This record gives sequence, C-alpha cells and structure tokens, in this order.
Amino acid sequence: MNTGYVELARAQQERWESAYAQRPQLHGSEPSAAAHRAVERFGAAGIDDVLELGSGHGRDALFLARQGFSVHATDFSDTALDQLRHAAQREGLDDRVTAALHDVRDPLPPADATVNAVFANLLLNMTFSPSELRSLVAEVRRVLCPGGLFVYAVCSTDDPCTQYSRQLDDGLSVYDGFVGRFFDEDLVGELAGHWQLDELTPYDEGQRRMLLVAMTKPAQET
Ligand SMILES: C[S@@+](CC[C@H](N)C(=O)[O-])C[C@H]1O[C@@H](n2cnc3c(N)ncnc32)[C@H](O)[C@@H]1O
Repeated sequence: MNTGYVELARAQQERWESAYAQRPQLHGSEPSAAAHRAVERFGAAGIDDVLELGSGHGRDALFLARQGFSVHATDFSDTALDQLRHAAQREGLDDRVTAALHDVRDPLPPADATVNAVFANLLLNMTFSPSELRSLVAEVRRVLCPGGLFVYAVCSTDDPCTQYSRQLDDGLSVYDGFVGRFFDEDLVGELAGHWQLDELTPYDEGQRRMLLVAMTKPAQET
C-alpha cells in the first residue's frame, strides 16, 4: 500500500468519526434498499446470520436483526458502532447484534469458509486503492462458505453527484471531504471474477444512482 493511501485512509477515518459524532444517526433510521434486497436473498437461501461490513450506526444491522437475522456488524468508526450498540440495547436486539471495530483494509477476522452471508451498503465505494478493493473482495470470498452470498451496493458512475465531485488519482474522487469511487458495470464484473454474479441492478435511492450487486461463492473453487 503506498504512503499516500495510508494518509488518505487515516484522514477519512477521522472524517467519518467526526461526522458520526456531530450528527448521530447520520444515515437516518430507515433501512437501505439494499438491506431489503439482502433480506430477500439471504432468507430465500435459508441463511440466518450475516456479517455486515461498514455498518455505520447500524440502520441496516438493526433492520436485519428485526427480521430475525443474527448480525455481526463492523466498521472503522467506534463512534458509529457505539450508536449501534445503544440502539440494539434500546430495542432489545442486543442478543442478535454484535458490533466490532474493524478496518476492512486488514484481513477479515473470520476463519476460512465460516460465514454464510456478507452484506455491505456503500462500503466498497469508499477510499480504497484498486488493489485494496480486490483484496477486500478476495477476503469476503475467503471467509464465505461455498455457496455463501455477498450482497453489496455502491454509487454508480451515473450518480448525479459525479458532477460535483473533484477527480483524484486511481479513479477516486472527493465530495464534501469524503473520498470515494463511483462504480460502473465493468468494475463490478472485474470484481466478480471467481464468483457467480447473480444480480447487477441499477436503482435510485433518494438523489443517488446506485448499483445493487449479489454474488455467490461457487461450491467448487474456480
Ligand atoms: C456511506 S457510510 C454507509 C454506512 C452504512 N452501511 C449505511 O448504509 O448506513 C460508509 C461507512 O463505511 C465505513 N468505512 C469506510 N472505510 C472503511 C474501512 N476502511 N473499514 C471499515 N469501515 C469503513 C465508514 O465509517 C462508514 O460508516
């Protein structure tokens, strides 16, 4: 990883910490559209436990728990995770929700092939170099059981926000102090190598233009 990315990532972690501290429940209490889709897909596959990456203050983790899933939520903002822990306690969902600090640029904690489902709303479009992004998807694949599911959602290159963003290197751009990447179908396809790509759906959420992606880790290694 080059030094520029280490610095950038540290600054982004501080940016997220202060955003959550200044505005608790930053993303609101309504679950994302991707979480609704994840519930359908995980439920249809008979899965009842989910690893969520980049959960923030946990609007989706709480929603998944309300639907009966056990959720292990991770994020690199302790402030956001504290908000999630308190909300889970208030709702009496703390037996179904755990929250742990984790930076997804580090290897995922679970052992190989021990997780049934991974969910990530608006995480993969954060500040990752192309190689960090590939490593993250490879890590998700490593921890998933054969046949395990990965559902994620990202901002699309068709998002109106692209016109207000300033381009940086490596396909990243910055808007309001947040650095991220807009995804197109080619990038989704590239990251889906060695996976079965089940769904790639453009959709609108509020003002955002998004892509919903669902992939399965094949039963046989490819
Ligand atoms: C746009 S927010 C989405 C939060 C949540 N998924 C939601 O939809 O409400 C992106 C989240 O990713 C987290 N994040 C960004 N980079 C991360 C990293 N390297 N490791 C772990 N979490 C990260 C941020 O702290 C933030 O909570």
